[in-house]
Amino acid sequence: DSKTGFATTLTGWYEHHKRDLPWRHTRDPYSIWLSEVILQQTRVAQGRPYYERFLAAYPTVQSMAGADERDLLRLWQGLGYYSRARNMHKTAQYVAEKLEGRFPETYAGLLKLPGIGPYTAAAIASFAFNEKAAVVDGNVYRVLARVFGIDVDITTNNAKKIFSERANQLIQASDNPATYNQAIMEFGAIQCTPVSPDCLICPLQQRCRAYLTGRQRMLPVKSKK
Ligand code: ADE
Ligand code: SF4
Repeated sequence: DSKTGFATTLTGWYEHHKRDLPWRHTRDPYSIWLSEVILQQTRVAQGRPYYERFLAAYPTVQSMAGADERDLLRLWQGLGYYSRARNMHKTAQYVAEKLEGRFPETYAGLLKLPGIGPYTAAAIASFAFNEKAAVVDGNVYRVLARVFGIDVDITTNNAKKIFSERANQLIQASDNPATYNQAIMEFGAIQCTPVSPDCLICPLQQRCRAYLTGRQRMLPVKSKK
């Protein structure tokens, strides 16, 4: 059906166009968590060397938990928002001390950790454990708003609910949720871009409401800044 078509088209596109990124070669929840914490407010090109340096310095969650916070902050230099580094340290200590160094293996379990929200829980649950938990970030908002013609204002709480529900329906149709989640984010990052997406070479063109009605520039709707 159309849901399967969407997931299949996206993952097919992804296999041909994906960037080779280090965190896509691991299923270790700690490494995946680390990559997502770094990439939350940072571009891939900038975050990548940080990911590699952090993983070299702290290869396990126990090693990060035991680190001197000043060393963590020094490695974090240049990424900004130092509270992110401090929260990262706290989460590592929680996993090391309360959970014997093992990240929970489900979305629901991950969401209970201090410092882990819905996006990061879904990323770890899907990439590490192949759970059908949909990631919903800015890229996903944009792709879904355009393809399905969803014109809810993405700065509202209502949007959060509507987009997550749709995203979670769609991921059910995928037999590889890890790949599906990477694919939709990658698609938003390099094909369905914020400004001037190249719709003429897009594999979703014929099922894209925005393209079919000429509304790419109007979607997603974002009132506040
Ligand atoms: N941005 C956030 N998570 C990412 C991922 N897993 N791959 C590429 N870019 C990302
Ligand atoms: Fe995005 Fe254009 Fe493709 Fe629609 S047709 S999904 S707007 S790139």
